[in-house]
Amino acid sequence: MIWPIFRDRPKAKNDSVRFGVDVGGSGIKGAPVNLSKGALNTERLRITTPQPATPEAVATTMAEVVAHFEWSGPVGCTFPGVVQHGVVYSAANMDSSWRDTDAAGLFSDACGLPVTVRNDADAAGVAEMRYGAGRGQTGTVLITTFGTGIGTCLFVDGVLVPNMELGHIEIDGVDAETMAASRWRKAHGLTWDEWGDRVNRYLRTVERLVWPDLIIVGGGVSRRHHKFFARLNTRTPIVAAELRNDAGIIGAALSVV
Ligand code: BGC
Repeated sequence: MIWPIFRDRPKAKNDSVRFGVDVGGSGIKGAPVNLSKGALNTERLRITTPQPATPEAVATTMAEVVAHFEWSGPVGCTFPGVVQHGVVYSAANMDSSWRDTDAAGLFSDACGLPVTVRNDADAAGVAEMRYGAGRGQTGTVLITTFGTGIGTCLFVDGVLVPNMELGHIEIDGVDAETMAASRWRKAHGLTWDEWGDRVNRYLRTVERLVWPDLIIVGGGVSRRHHKFFARLNTRTPIVAAELRNDAGIIGAALSVV
């Protein structure tokens, strides 16, 4: 039967459930996501990122996550680097052989399903704007994720400017990510105050470049924001992300729609 008007098509039973995978430098996590609720539909599966994190090894692990849930529809996936039209152009915390890789094609072949790929911070940001701390926010919103690297994304009146790589601006002659990403807190044995001061320096530098109306701090560390927020004295109002570690998976699933 031909449906004359698309919106008249009856909805499939689980129409609001999509699958998201968040590919990171330390873990590859996935779950079906309920888009009506903006929440995971079941507990996520996390597998440690294989080392070296080559395209083939990561694709195999990503496909394992999808297969675990016996998922058979389209899949949304993140990648921790610049992604334009499914192709990866940078990979600061993954194997350098990722550059110029058609990630969408590679992941689709590995899963046997259509896969859409977008930058991890962009995915987390889209989820946060839809369901979390960015809900209803207009103006310029900067979202930062502190984890293995520093991810950033920018929204202007709710519209994403993709692939804003502000984690790599130079501060004191070094890539800011190598100073203030949360992995360096442990790696350099920093106290929360010491690391908080680095985050503050970083955010104060970025706010002078993009002049946001609001900064949302995300990434795994956002659930412990009370440990370092007191060190931040940006001119911009600043809040913690609400979706915590699930933002990437939820944002990946949103990219399927
Ligand atoms: C990458 C970004 C990514 C961020 C967080 C950075 O090293 O360049 O694209 O969003 O890490 O994973």
